[in-house]
Amino acid sequence: MLGSMIFESHAHYDDKQFDPDREELLSSMGEKGIGKIINVGSDFTACKRTLELTRQYEFLYGALGIHPSDIADLNEGVCEWLKESAALPKVVAIGEIGLDYYWEKDPEAQSRQRYWFCRQMELARELSLPVIIHSRDAAKDTLKLMKDIHAQEIPGVIHCFSYSLELAQEYVNMGYYIGIGGVVTFKNSKKLKEIAAQIPLERILLETDCPYLSPEPNRGKRNSSLNLPYVAGEIASIKGIGTEEVIAQTWENAGRLFTKAV
Ligand code: NI
Repeated sequence: MLGSMIFESHAHYDDKQFDPDREELLSSMGEKGIGKIINVGSDFTACKRTLELTRQYEFLYGALGIHPSDIADLNEGVCEWLKESAALPKVVAIGEIGLDYYWEKDPEAQSRQRYWFCRQMELARELSLPVIIHSRDAAKDTLKLMKDIHAQEIPGVIHCFSYSLELAQEYVNMGYYIGIGGVVTFKNSKKLKEIAAQIPLERILLETDCPYLSPEPNRGKRNSSLNLPYVAGEIASIKGIGTEEVIAQTWENAGRLFTKAV
């Protein structure tokens, strides 16, 4: 399995932190072992930039969706735009969508988050696309909403997983993948290391969430997909297997979930 390429399942190369060197960086991905990238939309502007990037780079695919912290961008017109644009061949998922109660404490605003999360889940169902879910400090409501709408019928990944092992297992039982990134390399992230140990490799996706959450030894610096070997290496050492196996299996997993990323 030597020479496998890495599938980066969650990046934000539209972010202005990449303005100085985006072209140079993205052009170097292939030769550095990054085979495919999903650029994930967060607000409306990021979604439009994502579409541009999918046109520019053959190995780059897009996910379109509005992040819970950016739902002020959402209305019926934008929903219609998402629906039309998601039909494009290189749009492989709806995301990132979900709930974020860490940044939003107002109960009414949280209820709007739930409304638009639900709307975008239904959009994914209608389009037969997988979802990329962001959930922070909203474990209970995320699970309840997903159970209520029978989310086990909609394939997807819980990205940057930050909850308990029990909850990770619950999502795996619903058919979901667990997105693991730089946090797993942090010394104090015992919970996520335990999840990486217990969850079958067949259910794990590699992700950066770059420019955020750079793994050790680059913690605190701007992140990019080039740091993914550190994440794969950490998961491999936790599971007691080879890094190449982690890279090859997560590539296969991502292909199984994001069926349009061919
Ligand atoms: Ni993200």
